[in-house]
Amino acid sequence: MDKREDFDIYVVTTPGLESALCAEMMAAGFTDPQPGKGGVNTRGGWTEIWRANLELRGATRVLVRIGSFRALHLAQLDKRARRFPWATFLRPDVPVKVEASCTKSRIYHAGAAAERITRALSEELGAPIADDAEIVIKARIDDDLCTFSIDTSGESLHKRGHKEAVNKAPMRETMAALFLRQCGYDGHEPVVDPMCGSGTFVIEAAEIAAGLKPGRSRSFAFERLAGFDAAAWDALKASATLTAPTMRFHGSDRDAGAVKMSQDNAMRAGVADWTDFRRQAISDLTPPDGPAGLVIVNPPYGGRIGDTKQLYALYGSLGRVLRERFHGWRVGIITNEPALAKVTDLSFLPTGAPVLHGGIKVILYRTAPLA
Ligand SMILES: C[S@@+](CC[C@H](N)C(=O)[O-])C[C@H]1O[C@@H](n2cnc3c(N)ncnc32)[C@H](O)[C@@H]1O
Repeated sequence: MDKREDFDIYVVTTPGLESALCAEMMAAGFTDPQPGKGGVNTRGGWTEIWRANLELRGATRVLVRIGSFRALHLAQLDKRARRFPWATFLRPDVPVKVEASCTKSRIYHAGAAAERITRALSEELGAPIADDAEIVIKARIDDDLCTFSIDTSGESLHKRGHKEAVNKAPMRETMAALFLRQCGYDGHEPVVDPMCGSGTFVIEAAEIAAGLKPGRSRSFAFERLAGFDAAAWDALKASATLTAPTMRFHGSDRDAGAVKMSQDNAMRAGVADWTDFRRQAISDLTPPDGPAGLVIVNPPYGGRIGDTKQLYALYGSLGRVLRERFHGWRVGIITNEPALAKVTDLSFLPTGAPVLHGGIKVILYRTAPLA
């Protein structure tokens, strides 16, 4: 692994949140991030690749382009894949798998392409092939150009390694972080989630305020690549400085099980000192003492959990409580039906692109500070 070499890096995110991730990458000092479809392009060496995995809260996975060649037919693909310098990147003792896709190319059968590349890799490098391998090589054949990328993340990055308990419709940490960012949250104000479920927004907000890196507790696929420099990686991880937040982060839910789940998740994430969770229905919600901040909430969605009439009443009651009691606070509501957002009777700012959440298209509705 040559630490000075520069690669094309593609940071995958939830479609609809590319520009939010791009803003996060810009703020984190990545080189010229450019949003694409479903991700953001940048360039950098292994330190940036590690840093993207460790620090980017909105990234789902980090792909690194390791080489490309033209391939007009399967025999040529086979020959060139055999000559590819696999040993520069992969270890012969670590299982690997190949995923292929073909577009606008003479090689049109992705399965056959994957099979040729897999065989070449396994025979030339000697690495075991396994369907559940942690190391995944993605081969994209586009316009007869075959490009290899390594997925350096392994398990999706929304798995921070702290959340064991989840409720019915948990928000992915990566999405929660980017929605917080889109609401202008930068770690310096209190946050309230009155339907907190497993506590995702509250825990993410507390971690951001404390300067805790999202990937601090988990492992990554790049740790099993050839030439991985464990000492340099440990030094990068250790460079984080924790600052005890001066604000507190509050979650509530009417479901006692959700409250317990949130407390356990906050404890595992190391943010229990700055968060509190209580069992409370939305009708009893009051703002915490101290300065105004951000209320962020994803109430039950239409057509998923809950019945429509009750949902209208619930959103109506949420809007009333916020309008009457949360003067000076900004609000972010994530929901799938514009009509449900409308019954809150809050004045929303212009909305952005819909975002896919568990197969449902959701939109973030934001307000300015409430009068
Ligand atoms: C879609 S889930 C929120 C998921 C959460 N953001 C997470 O990441 O786990 C909606 C939550 O609203 C809660 N809820 C529904 N009606 C409520 C009410 N009237 N008052 C308080 N919480 C309520 C449910 O118990 C559920 O946990």
